[in-house]
Amino acid sequence: MRILITGGTGFIGKELQSHLEALGHQTRVLSRRNGWDISTGYLVEDAFENIDAIVHLAGAGIADKRWSEARKRELIHSRVASTALLAKALKTRKHQVRTLVSASAIGYYGADSGEVLCKEDTPAGHDFLSTCTLAWEQAVDEVPVYRVVKLRIGLVLGAHGGIFPVLARPIRWFAGVILGRGTQGQSWIHIQDLVKMFACVLTDESARGVYNAVAPEPVTHAEMTKQIAAVYHRPVWWPKVPAWALRLVLGEMAALVTGGNFVSSEKIQKELHFSFTYTRLKDALTQILHV
Ligand SMILES: NC(=O)c1ccc[n+]([C@@H]2O[C@H](COP(=O)([O-])OP(=O)(O)OC[C@H]3O[C@@H](n4cnc5c(N)ncnc54)[C@H](OP(=O)(O)O)[C@@H]3O)[C@@H](O)[C@H]2O)c1
Repeated sequence: MRILITGGTGFIGKELQSHLEALGHQTRVLSRRNGWDISTGYLVEDAFENIDAIVHLAGAGIADKRWSEARKRELIHSRVASTALLAKALKTRKHQVRTLVSASAIGYYGADSGEVLCKEDTPAGHDFLSTCTLAWEQAVDEVPVYRVVKLRIGLVLGAHGGIFPVLARPIRWFAGVILGRGTQGQSWIHIQDLVKMFACVLTDESARGVYNAVAPEPVTHAEMTKQIAAVYHRPVWWPKVPAWALRLVLGEMAALVTGGNFVSSEKIQKELHFSFTYTRLKDALTQILHV
């Protein structure tokens, strides 16, 4: 397949590009540096030339900056307007694109969905993350191609980006603590399984709609912290850092660490027979440590 990857310069995109190429696919990256400008609606003329499928990853980093009102607008706009730009161009230009696979996020279920095991038909939450993800998914549904797939991605664990280096840094420096109540769910996925999942839904013509992209065994935040500490042979200190203190430092964005979700991977395993390489957090962490 010939695949265009938007936001392909990022953490997931770089790993995905190498994985797809290793499988024999051809890839091209659409970046703000060389191919589009979402604010002006510019998309390079030959964006879809010889392209069979698009993987849409582009979006401003959710955890990169505090969530001011302007930043929240940017987080939504970068996802919704970029999707709308692709949709408009696919409506008006000649092309042979059949498939769109878009990133989405388990934030769809809300920053904190408590003890509930979220499945694909669990309703969206009511906070900023849900609003952002819902608007993004609705824009994706408007893209006029034969097949649309949305992967609701969990916390992606990998050595070269995402949440793992952020969680691991204080622990390695003997400053590992549990944030918030500790019982909040963390639905993680190893980067290698995630890129395998993208390849699976790109090539399996029966894949359609939403799939949760998380490993089969979510853990609590306390468990995640303890397991990272264990692979580094470091302690975890008590007491826990209370949610109010985190809100003082991080503002509304504190929800990213004080909240969490337990998310089910059953649908993709049953419907598409997807099999994970990393089902246990310990094995995923051990692999990452040895990269
Ligand atoms: N990593 C995770 O744990 C995780 C979890 C759930 C969902 N996701 C979603 O998966 C997607 C990819 O994640 P990632 O971790 O690879 O993110 P990333 O490393 O931040 O990469 C995202 C890419 O999007 C483009 N981008 C950044 N700001 C933008 C803006 N304002 N407007 C348009 N494009 C912009 C950039 O590409 P250019 O500079 O080349 O344009 C960037 O390389 C994101 O949409 C993210 O929300 C990630």
